Amino acid sequence: MVPYPLVGYKAKGDIVEDVDGNSFIDFSSAVAVTNIGYNHPKVVEAINTQAYKLTHFAGNDFYNELQVELAEKLVQITPGNFEKKVFFSNSGAESVECAFKMARWKAKKPGMISFLGAFHGRTFGALSLSACKAVQKKHYLPLVPSVMHVPFAYCYRCPYGMKYPECDMWCASYIEEVFLHHYPKEDIAALIVEPIQGEAGYIVPPIKFHLKLQKICHENNLIFIMDEVQAGFGRTGKMFASELFNVQPDIICLAKGLSGGIPIGATVAKSDTAEWSEGSSSHSNTYGGNALACAASLAKLEVMQNENIAEKAAKLGEYALKRLEEFKEKSSIVGDVRGKGLMIGIEFVKDKETKEKAIKETDEIAIEAFKNGLILLPVGDSCIRIAPPLNISQENLDKGLEIIFESTKAVEGG
Ligand SMILES: Cc1ncc(COP(=O)(O)O)c(C=O)c1O
Repeated sequence: MVPYPLVGYKAKGDIVEDVDGNSFIDFSSAVAVTNIGYNHPKVVEAINTQAYKLTHFAGNDFYNELQVELAEKLVQITPGNFEKKVFFSNSGAESVECAFKMARWKAKKPGMISFLGAFHGRTFGALSLSACKAVQKKHYLPLVPSVMHVPFAYCYRCPYGMKYPECDMWCASYIEEVFLHHYPKEDIAALIVEPIQGEAGYIVPPIKFHLKLQKICHENNLIFIMDEVQAGFGRTGKMFASELFNVQPDIICLAKGLSGGIPIGATVAKSDTAEWSEGSSSHSNTYGGNALACAASLAKLEVMQNENIAEKAAKLGEYALKRLEEFKEKSSIVGDVRGKGLMIGIEFVKDKETKEKAIKETDEIAIEAFKNGLILLPVGDSCIRIAPPLNISQENLDKGLEIIFESTKAVEGG
């Protein structure tokens, strides 16, 4: 929950205007959605043109060229040089629901491995796979059974008190201990993981973490699902974060940045993992692959490729991370700075030795920044995410960073 009131009225590029006419630099991208900036003219034009032709056509019963075109595009650009199938939905949670059901259908086994800190959405299946904040599950139990959560590679606060690389990725190896002592692998369908944990605080695991998870999946006959809902579409400096970690998941969950503003989700799977037969016995919905959403997504992906958006994010992210690292050295409450591309997290602590979380101070910094014209979204317990549009201007990136530095100093100084 954002600790300040903001009523959005209109937006363009990296600037949002509220109902009172105040302008803000946006470091949130409406929660990692508007990766190419708000209201990109090419996307607006595609939506308008499509709206005059056909806003919706039942893609589950009939056919619709835009759906096919977008599915072909996703098959082409997602990692993995193998045959794939695409299922369209309307949100991130739905793309995860689809992956969950698909894995159970294919494996004919109930079990799922997920991670502490994971956020996969709030519908029952997606919530069952999540373990970010207990309050999200309060009064909704029991959830879908047979989901086991294991610790993520959160190196700043290693759950085992170890240090990378001496730990030899014990957090990944621990999963094999679970198979041995607690949860028979023969009953587990899949493992689902975010490439970089989003809602837990933009937690970046070591590069080898996902390679090791992929190996464990392959060796133990588990389907490997990557939830790229928040990290996908250039956010990490690569079109997909799986590329950054050099893995080829069996299923990839997508949403948010796919269209850049019109609701759409997509689940891209290896053809032999997506074994569903046609028809309602498998999985279906009404609006998935909506014509307007597909038109917006196709236009957005074209902009991403033509304007080298992912490369821009990689460069700007490297620059921002360097400035934040320098600031961390001078600040008494910046405990950790981490990120890839423009998916950057700052973790605030009361004390750098004890690492006690600075929860109240984090909110105060976001409020102070808001007063000075910057939209910041707190994340995790005491972190702030830096997730601006990936084509943010250098000038606004610098202005935003300065506001963060000044707001932090103001809160630090009481
Ligand atoms: C990694 C991840 N998966 C799934 C979701 C759920 O997406 P939605 O809110 O579109 O249902 C989110 C939302 O923040 C997310 O970050």
